[in-house]
Amino acid sequence: MPLTHTRDLFAKALKEKYALGAFNVNNMELLQAIVEACEEEKAPVMLQISKGARQYANPVYLKKLIEAAISLTNIPIAVHLDHGDSFELCKECIDEGFTSVMIDGSHLPFDKNVEVCRRVVEYAHKHNCVVEGELGQLVGAQFDEGEAGGGFSKGGHYTHPEEAVAFVKASGVDSLAVAIGNSHGAYKFRGAQHLDLDRLKAIKKTLLDAGLGDYPLVLHGASSVPKELAEEINRYGGKLGEDTAGVPEADIEVARRVGCTKVNIDTDLRLAMTAAIRKALFENPKEFDPRKYLGPARARVKELVRHKVKNVLCCAGHAFD
Ligand code: G3H
Ligand code: 13P
Ligand code: ZN
Repeated sequence: MPLTHTRDLFAKALKEKYALGAFNVNNMELLQAIVEACEEEKAPVMLQISKGARQYANPVYLKKLIEAAISLTNIPIAVHLDHGDSFELCKECIDEGFTSVMIDGSHLPFDKNVEVCRRVVEYAHKHNCVVEGELGQLVGAQFDEGEAGGGFSKGGHYTHPEEAVAFVKASGVDSLAVAIGNSHGAYKFRGAQHLDLDRLKAIKKTLLDAGLGDYPLVLHGASSVPKELAEEINRYGGKLGEDTAGVPEADIEVARRVGCTKVNIDTDLRLAMTAAIRKALFENPKEFDPRKYLGPARARVKELVRHKVKNVLCCAGHAFD
């Protein structure tokens, strides 16, 4: 079965109001865990590959591994470039057949961000690929505290609803990653853990009112950083800080219902894999066969992905709609 287009996955997800899990792939075990979990849960899936993953694993290995996965399953799979940082990298991935790319110009001034997105969109649309842009910065909740008080102030790190409309119209991007207090990694919040879900609702509604329809939004930094995984890592020799924190799964559920069509998860997979490897090596210090610790790691990631697609993203059961 060939790749399923990101555009088609988005259309179905928007219609049925579930979110697509976009899971990062860096090696064979992660890929197998994600695809097997989604196959068992009958969930469509987006595999996303970062610049770092391409450097680590080599684009050809990744392509061949994904081809193998596709040949072994019949669930819909799309392949996406995560955080593309240049037109050239996006072009490379479009030419390789990715069904979507992200051009991340979120660190640039508004006009420059529009400019680089526009350039990628023009190339992508000619080559049957769709584009994710990002407006606002994923610096975490502590940077914009108080901003959401009365109305939504402009000029902070968070995405402003009217600017989102202007950005989508000017850049032509097909989906938009928003900054609503989300951030990457295992230390997302100081103090209260929350996303600015009112802002998310306002962004979605303002896009609708502006004639952009049921426009797909993307939530980066959506790992929930389970305490039990952090504790397990530390129990078996890790040294994660006390202050690990992620997005509560209840917030992700609200974000899904409000209209986050693609939800990016990487850190939770890293934590699951690391916890299982540390445990296996600690309990069997004489072991040196990588299959004996990578096998349990793969199983742990699979269990986590099954939980996400079934209980949080609600895309389980939708593979063959
Ligand atoms: O948002 C970033 C993803 O977690 C990918 O991370 O650039 O270290 O591969 P990476
Ligand atoms: P996490 O670090 O929360 O897993 O976010 C991953 C992500 O946004 C990839 O683009
Ligand atoms: Zn991200």
